[in-house]
Amino acid sequence: MIEQKVKQYPLQVDCVCESEAQLGEGPVWSKSEGVLYWLDIKNRQVFRYHVDNGQQDCQKVEPLISCIVLRRAGGLFAATHEGIGLFDYSKGTVAISNRFNTEPEGNRPNDGKCDSAGRFWLGSMDDAETKPTGNLYRFHGDGAVVKVLEGVVISNGIGWSPDNKIFYFTDSVNRAILAFDYSANSGSLQNPRVFAHIKKEHGYPDGLAVDVEGGVWSAHWDGWRITRYTPDGNIDRIINMPVPRPTSCAFGGSDLMDLYITSASIGLTGQQLAKAPLSGSLFCHKPGIAGLAVGEYNG
Ligand code: BGC
Ligand code: CA
Repeated sequence: MIEQKVKQYPLQVDCVCESEAQLGEGPVWSKSEGVLYWLDIKNRQVFRYHVDNGQQDCQKVEPLISCIVLRRAGGLFAATHEGIGLFDYSKGTVAISNRFNTEPEGNRPNDGKCDSAGRFWLGSMDDAETKPTGNLYRFHGDGAVVKVLEGVVISNGIGWSPDNKIFYFTDSVNRAILAFDYSANSGSLQNPRVFAHIKKEHGYPDGLAVDVEGGVWSAHWDGWRITRYTPDGNIDRIINMPVPRPTSCAFGGSDLMDLYITSASIGLTGQQLAKAPLSGSLFCHKPGIAGLAVGEYNG
């Protein structure tokens, strides 16, 4: 597709919460609480942004947490170096209940999300971002842990199509968002292919969210943008960001009409930060399309 013909939405992103997060990540909407949870992986902090009054509170956490999901039975689950467990926001603790089978030294957990059956999909990565030691796991509510993919450097953005037939998985270092045929019954993946390949000048694909029309919204680390792809993988819209490192996005608000976007300041030079002082902040874009609700952990 010719870039010039793609709709550009340059001034439609609001900074809703100024922050200096190093690695702002993992936005997740809690409808029952009316809050958007997000976190700073490197600073070991979890934030709770109250959409009604624009207030935010923060909790320091003991372990490194890379992502949070809602739990069907109530509460939250979080991923740490050891596996996944119940996350208590009021105490900042994680009670690990499902452990990784094998994760090499030097790896850390990264992006994760639950499918409609309540299975928790979690990718890992080499913390130094060089070795292909990253894996993708599927944690079942009954305690089973399945390694689904291996050999990835940075496992990233995960999502499902509205009809639950396609699974999206982001391989950041190879600048690819992959699509797989997905069985909602078993959770198995088949027929891997490249859904979208990101040009070098547009950075690396990071976290993603899917809308009700099957549009895939992907954050570009080092790309100053969010791209919406149509289900056939064509670029539909580009949302220009005031920061170079948007990291992830999630739909929130009572009707899932708001796209919340996290960002990072880690690794930016003083000069880059002067040009993008909002790096690390939380942003919101109103695309006019509702998001698909994400799954909740069934364990
Ligand atoms: C990781 C970062 C990484 C970035 C690259 C993020 O999900 O947490 O460590 O640099 O992806 O896209
Ligand atoms: Ca990410």
